[in-house]
Amino acid sequence: MTAQIIDGNALAKKTREEVAGRTAALKAKGVEPHLAIILVGEDPASQVYVKHKVADSEQTGLKATLERYPATMSEADLLARVQALNADAKVHGILVQLPLPRHMDAQKVIETIAPAKDVDGFHVQSAGALLTGLPGFWSCTPYGCLKLIDSIGFDLKGKNAVVIGRSNNVGKPMALMLLGRDATVTLCHSRTKDLKAHTLMADVIVAAVGRRNVVTADMVKPGAVIIDVGMNRNDEGKLCGDVDFAGVKEVAGWITPVPGGVGPMTRAMLLVNTIEAAERAA
Ligand code: GUN
Repeated sequence: MTAQIIDGNALAKKTREEVAGRTAALKAKGVEPHLAIILVGEDPASQVYVKHKVADSEQTGLKATLERYPATMSEADLLARVQALNADAKVHGILVQLPLPRHMDAQKVIETIAPAKDVDGFHVQSAGALLTGLPGFWSCTPYGCLKLIDSIGFDLKGKNAVVIGRSNNVGKPMALMLLGRDATVTLCHSRTKDLKAHTLMADVIVAAVGRRNVVTADMVKPGAVIIDVGMNRNDEGKLCGDVDFAGVKEVAGWITPVPGGVGPMTRAMLLVNTIEAAERAA
């Protein structure tokens, strides 16, 4: 059996088109959805990420402003800038690109963002809203993974879902989102004793560790849905995920590729959260 590939690029394109439609509708009512992005310092990867975020926004008609500050900026000045954006009714979403310089307390900065504008979904109130099922913004990567699962018409109710990785922004919220869909969720991590025993039971596996070959063909139940959040480099320097794609695709029912799976959907869900923020404020 060869798995069907879940095309993240195609789903992201469809998602962007939906966002563009919602953006046009808001603009027709005189509201210009606006995402403010703050980049502190010169981190090369961050510069690429924010460039993509601005381009994605503009492509869907959202206004995006990028504010760049030197790595020497004080934490107090950054907090003051975030507070000014909180108070600006013309700004609907605020994103402070991470990592921040070492002299700053990233959590403190995130907690300063108004939850109504927290389009990253990193604020403790956003995390709490997901936990309790209240309205709030969901972290973009797990939200994108959920959309990828939905896109194949897979009903999660009563299914065994295994999430590998317990990060605050991916693994933990992913587990909660799957639980919210009535899956039976197991959250595995670096101290899990027999990972294979868990994954072999799984109808869905979400791998979010950041290390290649965490999931191999012998660990997968035939027909399972495999969502690969990993972004690693193999020995030839090529991008690869946490899943041994070549081996696992012979056993799984569906699988996301790397690149072209979760990555584009993470980017698309930021746009969804931003338009959502603007609609709620309008
Ligand atoms: N750095 C790497 N990924 C992200 C992200 O999704 N949001 C923010 N704010 N910073 C990041």
